[in-house]
Amino acid sequence: MAGKDAPLHNAAKPLEWLIGKWKGQGKGIYPTIQDFDFLEELEFFHVGQPMLQFSFYSVNKETNKPLHREIGFIRIKPGTNQIACISSHNNGVSEMAEGTVAGQIVSLESHTIGRMTFGKDPKTVKLKRTFTLDGDTLHQVVYMETDTVPLTEHLRTTYKKV
Ligand code: HEM
Repeated sequence: MAGKDAPLHNAAKPLEWLIGKWKGQGKGIYPTIQDFDFLEELEFFHVGQPMLQFSFYSVNKETNKPLHREIGFIRIKPGTNQIACISSHNNGVSEMAEGTVAGQIVSLESHTIGRMTFGKDPKTVKLKRTFTLDGDTLHQVVYMETDTVPLTEHLRTTYKKV
C-alpha cells in the first residue's frame, strides 16, 4: 500500500508500541444480553503521517461468523500526548473519542457518537476504552453507555502480536 514503507512520523512515536497485527480473544458482557466469547484481529499501521490507521475484525468464537468490525484512525496532536480516535463501526455507529497516550496506556472517551437513522435500538451514547500493553500482551477494555443502561463494561479482550 502506498506509504506503508514510510518512516514513522516523529509525532506518532508515542503510539509505536501499537503498530502491527494482533490476534486475540475476548468476552462480551452487558446487563441486557447474554455473555459471549469472540476472536478478534487488530491491525495498526501508518503511512508516515502523524496518526495510526486501524482495523478491528471480530468473529464468533464457535462459528467463526463475522461480528463487529471497526475501521479508523488514532491521531496525535504533534508534540503532545493528546490523541483523538475517529472510528466507523459496521453497526452504523461513528465515534469521535479523545484522550491520552501515557507510556503504554491509551485511554479514550467519546465526545460524539453518530448513528444511522435506521440504527437498531438501544442507542449507544458513550464509549470509553483503554489499550494497555503488559509485556507482550495487549489488553483492550470497552465500556458502553446506551440510552437504557449507564456506562458499563461491554468487552474485555487480550491479544498477542502475530
Ligand atoms: C466498540 C464498539 C461497540 C459498540 C458501540 C457496540 C454496541 C452494542 C449495542 C448497543 C448492543 C445492544 C445492547 C443492548 O441490547 O442493550 C450490543 C450488543 C452486542 N454486541 Fe456490541 N458493540 C461494540 C463492540 C462489539 C464487539 C467488538 C463485539 C464482538 C463480538 C460485539 C458483540 C455484540 C453482541 C454479540 C451483542 C449481543 C447481540 C446483539 O445485540 O447484536 N460488540 N453491542
